[in-house]
Amino acid sequence: MDKITRISGLFLSSLSLVLTTSLILFAVDSNPAYAQQSGIVTKSAAAVDPDIWDIARGGQLYDNWMAVLDAERPKGTHPAYPAIGKQKGKNTWRCKECHGWDYMGEDGAYGRGSHFTGIKGLRNIVGMEPAKIEKIIMDKTHAYTSKMIPERALEKLALFLSRGQVGMDQYIDRSTKAARGDPRRGALFFQTVCAICHGFDGTRMISKSETVLAAFGDRGFLGSVASDNPWETLHKIRNGQPGVGMVALRILSTQDQVDVLAYIQTLRRGRR
Ligand code: HEC
Ligand code: HEC
Repeated sequence: MDKITRISGLFLSSLSLVLTTSLILFAVDSNPAYAQQSGIVTKSAAAVDPDIWDIARGGQLYDNWMAVLDAERPKGTHPAYPAIGKQKGKNTWRCKECHGWDYMGEDGAYGRGSHFTGIKGLRNIVGMEPAKIEKIIMDKTHAYTSKMIPERALEKLALFLSRGQVGMDQYIDRSTKAARGDPRRGALFFQTVCAICHGFDGTRMISKSETVLAAFGDRGFLGSVASDNPWETLHKIRNGQPGVGMVALRILSTQDQVDVLAYIQTLRRGRR
């Protein structure tokens, strides 16, 4: 009798061990955070893309090629910049100024406001052969010279537009500007990758002196940049900041990048 009780006791405890293990396994499996973490390794296309450096550089060129190349600033306003537009001077030569941070042109965030141009976006050329894109960038409308954008830079720009864009509407709510991400996960990335330069609370801009920073106003706070312009912030998170030493998180899955954005949106937005 004693033996049977012992054996059945043993049976019962091993059964419960099996049950708990499978419950834990089930929990791990169905936990989206774990699924996403493993996605970093298995699902990120960037992880196996040998052109990742060129693509990120291309993203920076799209943002501000003059700053990346330390090029002479073009004089005057870009000839294709429309008269209805409110910008003028060298900034009108930046790709983002006409085609938007979300690459959607008039169909995106620049569809209204002080950056409106009525020019179309670049989402249709995703996957297009880079050589074709290079031709478009150097066409008459664009008026760039090879002195402004040399061959190597042109190649990177085209690679970025063909393979490096992201459909931002999927990740950022256009009307509320809220990032569709998990700020708690984003905090882990921010604190280990970004904080060293931008400060634990995102209030530091490392290359700017205190005086310049003060003149920057709220713009000097990552929290404010991320809330006011989440598209620009996501672009910079993925590709880095032109002309300075900043990391590019393109290697992570887009959802990880969006989690970082969601976290920065929770940070302090100003001195007040
Ligand atoms: C001053 C405004 C302006 C700037 C700056 C500008 N573009 Fe354009 N871009 C245009 C216009 C206008 C078109 C033509 C749209 C049309 O044909 O309807 C265009 C079209 C394009 C197209 C073709 C899109 C398509 O669907 O056919 C690509 C690619 C492109 N631009 C890339 C760039 C890149 C890269 C830069 C920066 C190096 C840049 N553009 C800067 C105004 C601009
Ligand atoms: C090695 C240093 C470094 C790291 C790491 C870094 N940055 Fe930056 N970042 C910079 C510099 C330098 C600038 C230019 C502004 C300045 O002077 O600080 C900048 C600018 C920015 C801007 C643009 C601010 C503006 O007003 O235009 C954003 C947004 C940004 N960083 C986000 C991030 C995020 C998010 C991370 C982490 C994924 C990160 N940065 C990591 C150095 C860094």
